[in-house]
Amino acid sequence: MPMRQRRKSRSASPSASTSVDALLSEERSFPPPKTFQARAHLSNGEIYKQAEKNYQAFWARQAQELVWSKPWKKVLQWNPPFAKWFVGGKLNACVNCVDRHIETPLRNKAALIWEGEPGDHRTLTYFDLYREVNKLANGLKSLGIKKGDRVAIYLPLVPEAVISMLACARIGAVHSVVFGGFSAEALRERINDASAKLLITADGGFRRGAIVQLKNAADNAVAGCPSIQNVVIVRRTNNEINMHPVRDHWYHDLVKNQSGHCKAEAMDVEDMLFILYTSGSTGKPKGIMHTTGGYLTGVNYTTKYVFDLKPDDVFWCTADVGWVTGHSYLVYGPLSNAATCVMYEGSPDWPERNRFWKIIEKYGVTIFYTAPTAIRQFMKWGTQWPDGCELSTLRLLGSVGEPINPEAWIWYHKYIGRGKCPIVDTWWQTETGSILISPLPGVTSLKPGSATKPLPGIEAKVLNESGKEIKVGGGYLALTRPWPSMLRGIYGDPQRYKSTYWNRWGGKYYFTGDGAKKDEDGYYWLLGRVDDIMLVAGHNISTMEVESALVDHPSVAESAVVGITDEIKGQAIAAFVTLKEGNKPGPEAEEDLKQHVVTKIGAIARPKKVIFSNDLPKTRSGKIMRRLLRDIAEGRALGDVTTLADSSVVAALKVKYEEET
Ligand code: WT7
Repeated sequence: MPMRQRRKSRSASPSASTSVDALLSEERSFPPPKTFQARAHLSNGEIYKQAEKNYQAFWARQAQELVWSKPWKKVLQWNPPFAKWFVGGKLNACVNCVDRHIETPLRNKAALIWEGEPGDHRTLTYFDLYREVNKLANGLKSLGIKKGDRVAIYLPLVPEAVISMLACARIGAVHSVVFGGFSAEALRERINDASAKLLITADGGFRRGAIVQLKNAADNAVAGCPSIQNVVIVRRTNNEINMHPVRDHWYHDLVKNQSGHCKAEAMDVEDMLFILYTSGSTGKPKGIMHTTGGYLTGVNYTTKYVFDLKPDDVFWCTADVGWVTGHSYLVYGPLSNAATCVMYEGSPDWPERNRFWKIIEKYGVTIFYTAPTAIRQFMKWGTQWPDGCELSTLRLLGSVGEPINPEAWIWYHKYIGRGKCPIVDTWWQTETGSILISPLPGVTSLKPGSATKPLPGIEAKVLNESGKEIKVGGGYLALTRPWPSMLRGIYGDPQRYKSTYWNRWGGKYYFTGDGAKKDEDGYYWLLGRVDDIMLVAGHNISTMEVESALVDHPSVAESAVVGITDEIKGQAIAAFVTLKEGNKPGPEAEEDLKQHVVTKIGAIARPKKVIFSNDLPKTRSGKIMRRLLRDIAEGRALGDVTTLADSSVVAALKVKYEEET
C-alpha cells in the first residue's frame, strides 16, 4: 500500500507539536462529553443493533424520512454489482430540500448564509430559495432543457451554484458540476463525456482578491463541445466578457420574467440525479452516477446523525460544490434536513489568516466540517489566528478527505474545539455518496486518527487479497453489502464500473481502493489509496492524468509522476521527466512544464518538483517502477531493484536527485 501512507513523520511548528505530543500520550480515547451526549439525537449504541437485526428494514425507515409522491414496492433489488433501492417509488430531490419546508414554520428560516470573498453577503431563506430555484427551473425549460438532459455547472461558490443544482433536480435534468478551479480542457472533457446540452457559468470568481476568468475558460472549453446549445452566465465579478449573441444568456435576464412556480417532476427513485467526475487510474475521469432516492436517503440520514443536526444549528461545510462533499453536505444533506448552511466563496487567508474563524464568530457556526489539509495549514499559521476569535458557539467538528494525522486531530480538538467538541472523522468517497465510516458523536469514544466504525446500516470489512476477512490487522477495505447511496455506475461505461470496483473478489464485494487496518476494539484506521491516485490537498489526482499532460508538451519524451509526502497538502506531485533530444533542462523548462500541467488540468495538479532525467527505471515489460521513484523523491533507501531492466538507471537518478535538492 504505497500511497498516502504519510502520517507519522508530519509535524507542525515546534511549539504546537510539543503540547500535542504531551496530549497524545496522556489521552488516547475521547468518550462523548456528558453535556453533548445529554442533548444528542443518539446517546447509546441501540441503533447499531436495530440496523443489524434487519438492515433493509432499517434503510426503509430512513427513506421514510423523505417525502415521496409514490411509495416504493421493494426495498432492495440486488443483482451484483447493480443495485436498485426503494424500487417503484417516486420523489423529487428539490421538493425534499425546499418545498416541504416552506409549508411549515421553516418558511423564513435561513437556508443559505453566503459570504463572498470581498466581504459581501447574502442570506436566502427557504422561501427565497424556493422562488430562485423555481425561476431558474422555468428559465432552463425555456431554453429547452428537459428531464434526463445533462447540464454542466462551472461556477464559483456562489448561491447560484446551489440554486442551479436544485433547479436541475426540480425538472429532472442531470447536473454535472465541474469544480471552478479546473481548466478549460478539463471542463471540455467532462462536458463531452456527458454530452451536456447547457452550461451554467459566471463572468468570473474571486480568489485571493484577484478575478478568476471563468467565462474565458468556459468559452475555450465550449469551442470544443458540440453538444452545448446554450450558456447561462451569472454576473459575479463584473469584468468584461465576450457574449456570444445566440448561445449566451445572462442569468439575471433569463430568470427576470419567469414565474416563481415550476412543477417539480415526479422522478423515479432510480432516475439519475447527478454525474460527478472523479479521477481514475487510467487518466480518463470517471463520471460517477448517483440516483435520486437512495442518494437522498443516505445523505439525509448521515447529516442528521453523524452531525447530530438540530433545528437551531448553523452548519458550515467548507467544501466547494465541485466535490462530492459539497453535493452531499452543503446541498442535499443539510437542505433536506432544513438546516441553516454557511457558504464561503474564497480563500481562508484572505484578507488575513483568520477568515474562517471570523466567519464562525460572525454567524455563530455550531458545526464545522473541513479537511485535514486545511487543518494542517491552520496549524502551520499558528494558534494566534483562532485565539483572537470567538469560537464558543462550536459544538461539533468534522474531518473528511484523507486520514487525519493524530497531531492535527489533537490540534483541531484543542484550539478550534476548545476541548469540548467531539470530532467526527468521516470516511467516504464520491462513489459511496454519503458517509459510511464515522463516529456517532453522542455514542462513540474517539481515537485520534481513526474514523472509528461503519455506521448503522453499513457493513465494511478488511479483507486480504483472496477475500478472507482480517479481524485484527491490515488489508483492503471492502464494502460487503449494498447501501442506498452507492454509485449506480460510471456514465457510459458499465464495464469500467465492474472492473474498477467489483473485480477483486469475484464480483461479491465492493473494492474501495483504500487500505485499512482494524484494531482489537474493531476500530478502522484508514491507510490511504492502494493504487496510483495521489491525494493533493484533499483532491484525487491520478498520476496518469498528470503524466499525460506532461507528455503533451512538445519537449517531453516521457514522464513518471509520483505523490510525495507534503506537510500541508498531504501529498504533493513530483514529476520525473525525460526531455526529447535538443531540449535543455533547467529552471525555465521546469516552470514551463509546471504551467503546462496547470493549463491542461488545473492549478491543483501543479507539480511541486520536476526532476529531469535521461532514463526512467522500468521493468523488463516496460512498466515504470513508481515505487522506486517515490523512494528517491522521499529520500529513502532504494527498495528491491531486481525486477528492473537496468538497475544502474535508478542509482544514477538517486545520486542526481540528491545533488539537486
Ligand atoms: C478517498 C475518496 C469523501 C469526500 C472527499 C473525498 C480518502 C476520504 C477519509 C477519511 C481517510 C479518507 C479515501 C477515499 N478519504 N475521507 N476520513 N479518512 N481517508 O472524496 O475524492 O472520492 O476521495 O478519500 O482514500 O477513498 P473522493
